[in-house]
Amino acid sequence: MHIVIGGGSGFIGTALAEECRARGDQVTVISRFPGDGRITWDQVKAGELPACDAVINLAGQHILDMRRRWTPKYRDEVIASRVETTEVLVAVLNTMPSPPNVFVSTAGKCFYGTGEIGKTHEYPELDEESEPMGIDFPAELVALWEQAAEGIDTTSIRHVRVRIGVVLGAVERKSYIGKLWRIGQARGFLPIIRLPFCLGLGATIGHGQQPFPWIHIDDMVGILLHVINDADHDGRFNAVAPGIVNNQHFTEVFAKQLHRRVVWSIPAWLVKRTVGLERASILLEGQNVKPKRTLESGYKFKFPDIESALGDLVQITF
Ligand SMILES: NC(=O)c1ccc[n+]([C@@H]2O[C@H](COP(=O)([O-])OP(=O)(O)OC[C@H]3O[C@@H](n4cnc5c(N)ncnc54)[C@H](OP(=O)(O)O)[C@@H]3O)[C@@H](O)[C@H]2O)c1
Repeated sequence: MHIVIGGGSGFIGTALAEECRARGDQVTVISRFPGDGRITWDQVKAGELPACDAVINLAGQHILDMRRRWTPKYRDEVIASRVETTEVLVAVLNTMPSPPNVFVSTAGKCFYGTGEIGKTHEYPELDEESEPMGIDFPAELVALWEQAAEGIDTTSIRHVRVRIGVVLGAVERKSYIGKLWRIGQARGFLPIIRLPFCLGLGATIGHGQQPFPWIHIDDMVGILLHVINDADHDGRFNAVAPGIVNNQHFTEVFAKQLHRRVVWSIPAWLVKRTVGLERASILLEGQNVKPKRTLESGYKFKFPDIESALGDLVQITF
């Protein structure tokens, strides 16, 4: 197959591209920057999208980049990087004389928003058919992102929509120097939180009872390939592991893998002050998301529970 990946230079895209190449597929990445095996978004707009079998869009400015202050400019970039790239692809795919068989648009589990949860912390189960619990900024963002994909011509292109949980990738470095100095291209959530945990500063966030919908990077890639490969799959699929845990459970298992204890918790007011009110719900609230359709479609998770996933991913324990 020839697979085109928008935002294919990122964490998920790189893993997907590696897996596709390993099985003999040709991969073209759409990026803001030109390079080998890449085309730019401007080239796509100019009608230079190559003939291909599948297009997946994973482009999006990171919403929790701690190196940047949350300003109106950053907020606009977060929205535009998702909505505009999706709109460009939809417009171009709809006019191709021989379009690809399948278009996979992605979005986040924040679609389900946040709602009033009582003191018992009983979060309702949410599957692919569920409506949002309530609208906050992340849910509004995902709604705009998903709407942008809706114009795809489903009479000629199969449309799969994947909602992604927090993707967990390896806490390891590939090169010798990288291993030595703990630097390099490790990506995703775990490498960011590894250092504070190793220093004994690992902490639950807020009350810690909020659900933490996570997925192992291998299953993330596995689900994308599963929906591309099988012509019967269309519509929504949740890319979250069946073994969802809450923030406290996740924190304890991660600390245990690193041979550390968890004695701290980060108070909600500090999270709100650090990341701003609009983004705080990403950390302080959670959604009890289930991969119901994903399981019904026959996808078998390699890492269905958090213990096996973190056991596989955490190789550095200094
Ligand atoms: N990783 C997760 O835990 C997670 C969870 C839920 C949803 N998602 C979503 O899944 C998608 C892929 O995630 P990821 O972790 O692979 O993200 P990532 O590593 O941050 O990579 C996303 C790619 O998007 C492109 N990009 C960044 N800013 C852009 C902008 N302003 N305009 C156009 N393109 C831009 C970049 O490609 P170039 O630099 O080559 O242009 C980047 O490589 C994202 O949309 C993300 O929001 C991820």
